[in-house]
Amino acid sequence: MLKLHQIYIRKSLSLFIFLSILMTAIFYYWIRDFYLQKTKEELLKDIELIYLIAKENRDFNALALKIKKDLNLRITFILEDGDILAESDKDKKYMDNHKNRPEVVIARLEGFGYSVRHSNTLNKELLYVVKRYKIGDETIYIRLAKPLNEINESLFYLVLRVVGVIVLFAVMLFLIFYKIGLDIEREIQTILRFLKSLIKKRRVFEIDSNFSKEFSQIAKLLSKISRILTKQENYREKYLSKLEASNREKENIISAISHEFKNPIAVIEGYSQTLLEDEIDERIRERFLKKISKNAKKLVKMIDTLRLAVKLEDKKQSINFKEFDIYESVKEVIEDLKESFKDREIILKGESLFIKGDKILMEIVIKNLIENALKYSEDEVFVFVDKEGISVKDKGIGIKEEEIKNITNKFYRSDKNVWSNSLGLGLFIVSNIIKLHGFRLEIQSILNKGSIFSVKFTS
Ligand SMILES: Nc1ncnc2c1ncn2[C@@H]1O[C@H](COP(=O)(O)OP(=O)(O)OP(=O)(O)O)[C@@H](O)[C@H]1O
Ligand SMILES: [Mg+2]
Repeated sequence: MLKLHQIYIRKSLSLFIFLSILMTAIFYYWIRDFYLQKTKEELLKDIELIYLIAKENRDFNALALKIKKDLNLRITFILEDGDILAESDKDKKYMDNHKNRPEVVIARLEGFGYSVRHSNTLNKELLYVVKRYKIGDETIYIRLAKPLNEINESLFYLVLRVVGVIVLFAVMLFLIFYKIGLDIEREIQTILRFLKSLIKKRRVFEIDSNFSKEFSQIAKLLSKISRILTKQENYREKYLSKLEASNREKENIISAISHEFKNPIAVIEGYSQTLLEDEIDERIRERFLKKISKNAKKLVKMIDTLRLAVKLEDKKQSINFKEFDIYESVKEVIEDLKESFKDREIILKGESLFIKGDKILMEIVIKNLIENALKYSEDEVFVFVDKEGISVKDKGIGIKEEEIKNITNKFYRSDKNVWSNSLGLGLFIVSNIIKLHGFRLEIQSILNKGSIFSVKFTS
């Protein structure tokens, strides 16, 4: 395929040659016409003068010879009937009647006439100009003739010069357009390179062109497209790595959850297997059955926790608002927990306080917070109930400052957490229930010193 400048050379060269020839031809005919017109006017003026002389001095033969000599023009005096009265270039005896010469015929009708034709007398092409006059009683036609080869000759040199100028002009024009063609080709090459790089995803952000307004606009738009594409590509990469991270996290979570489930299942499996296979003493049998029941309860509890978390996340948990005594609820929860944490001290301070909320859900909140305090500390745990809210305080391991913002996230468990059967869902459930009530969770914690988790009744 041809390059842009080659196409340009092909098309424009023939066009320039054609246009040069056409312009030369038009110019030649136009200038010739102009020249003939001027010569005619000059000859008519000469005829006017000759008439004035002839009117005084009626010696036409002598006058014809003098004019030939002074002006180098052929002159003919013709009578009304076409006979020659006097002639400068030939003996009138040998000349035929001129009545029907085209210029004479026109002059007879219009007073003056002219024609361009071949002269038999001089055997060359002449411009004839003739005018009709009355001299005395006679009508006389005064005719002047100028050979056209003189006109053609001077015209030839003039046209030659003009053609030279036209050709020069055409060549210059050609070179200018050729240069423009090369410049356009260069700009297009830059754009092509830019587009190729863009396709190969080499990071090219900017392309610039000052060649013309259009190219500058194209360059600006391409730069914009490049920026958009690069942005999209970056976004895609970020999205993919986020997706990968989230998939990794999900895998970790699934393996952690299955690990938590495996433990009680293994216990149940082990004890039930022993019960089935061995002859066992009644007391030990009862202990084994209690262990099986305890681990089955753990499993049920974990499944309930998971279900509640999913419901809260999907905003499908219904809420049943009623007035109830939160202090009483805290007391009940503490009683419950004391069964599992037998040797732990939980100190409750406060008095009866009625609030509006979902009793069951709020008990889950209280249970989770006190259970955490018990799990992550070894000393006594304090619970305060007042008009402002409920606070659970422990003197345990505490939480790193930078971790605090994450601990309410789903499945979040600190690295130091060694508790089994802990899914990292407790605080996620707590914060969602609190939000549903329009309450607020406040966490204060110092690493290795302890924590205070407060539910504030005002938002
Ligand atoms: N009182 C606390 N003291 C120190 N760390 C705590 C305390 N409460 C929560 N955490 C930290 O926050 C994490 C998230 O707590 P959360 O209650 O959500 O999960 P969990 O107790 O690990 O498991 P689950 O409650 O589902 O049984 C815990 O793993 C623990 O690292
Ligand atoms: Mg917990």
